[in-house]
Amino acid sequence: MAIISSQDADAEHPKEGRKAGKAAREPLKSNPGFPHQSNQSISLPGELAEENAPKTGADLLQPEADPAEKQEESLRPRTLAEYIGQTELKEVLAIVIAAARARQEPLDHLLFYGPPGLGKTTVAAALAAEMGSRFYMTTAPALESPRDIAGYLVRLKRGDVLFIDEIHRLPKVTEELLYPAMEDFRLDITLGKGRSARITSLALERFTLIGATTRVGALTSPLRDRFGQIQRLRFYEPDELVQIVLRTARLLNTSIDPEGAAEIARRSRGTPRIANRLFKRVRDYAQVRGDGHISQAVAAAALELFHVDPMGLDWTDRKLLTLLVEQFGGGPVGLETMAAVTGEDPQTIEEVYEPYLLQIGYLQRTARGRVITPAALRHLGYEAQSPLPLWS
Ligand code: ADE
Repeated sequence: MAIISSQDADAEHPKEGRKAGKAAREPLKSNPGFPHQSNQSISLPGELAEENAPKTGADLLQPEADPAEKQEESLRPRTLAEYIGQTELKEVLAIVIAAARARQEPLDHLLFYGPPGLGKTTVAAALAAEMGSRFYMTTAPALESPRDIAGYLVRLKRGDVLFIDEIHRLPKVTEELLYPAMEDFRLDITLGKGRSARITSLALERFTLIGATTRVGALTSPLRDRFGQIQRLRFYEPDELVQIVLRTARLLNTSIDPEGAAEIARRSRGTPRIANRLFKRVRDYAQVRGDGHISQAVAAAALELFHVDPMGLDWTDRKLLTLLVEQFGGGPVGLETMAAVTGEDPQTIEEVYEPYLLQIGYLQRTARGRVITPAALRHLGYEAQSPLPLWS
């Protein structure tokens, strides 16, 4: 049975039936060139746009990976020791690794979940590296036909790690092939069609599957139950993001002071991917408008120019909060109503926007709906009266 980490609250709130915000995007195609090893370059397929394409606040603050960001991968920590933040998770993983190593066994299958940009892929690759295992990476939408997943499974050697991103998007047939593969290390192949069809089984090597998802509630329970551990990645604390920015600056030979790093960290929505992206834009600004050094003043001026709000809010966050105040007196308002008045997809609101607003204490979820907080009102420049008329 799966051990669900104690921090796990979202797992109890399945979100089946909702249209995935992500599903509307172009599905990622198969990664070219099998395999990808943990210490090799892992690149997403497709045409890579210019990394330095102009971006404004709304783009810069998107937590999803941008395939144009080729450098993201080279900045990734390779080992858990290098990895900053997620302290509790690292502690759990250190035990799992030590135990598996002592028994000379592959790791149990693992599922990571949490908002995008927090390092699910990075942790998985670091785990494989710690185990001295090869790391094969793919994404669920690329596993369209049974042949795609079978192609991976039959090549895996004992101890290899197969990483499947966005695992909640696995096609049903692929998912069903994974059940015996995960549980009994067996691949069931159907030969022939109709009445003459028969199933033959192929023994697989004992591998480790690491799944990653932003929507743990969208996984079917048979799949979820086949993971030995389910772990959540959390938003990063500001001081952790400061360390990440300082590390990136060191790797990219950029002069920065702790206050400059703190200014970037504060606007990064608790997300390393965003912190590194903002860092690079501030570095451009410092180079062109200054002497290349990133101080607090330089970082603040650059991020103002790029329309990145001092708390990392983007246009949609501000619109959500403002509408809550202007049209609903601060709440409570139901998710569907918020979606209707903002024109956003309810799932995107719930999975992309709300987690950060809840984390920084700008929004509360109550049984009757969403409620804005005095901190958010102050941030938006409203007079925070306490209590607001509709709060009683
Ligand atoms: N770069 C991105 N995420 C990181 C992390 N968690 N630790 C160190 N560097 C990172």
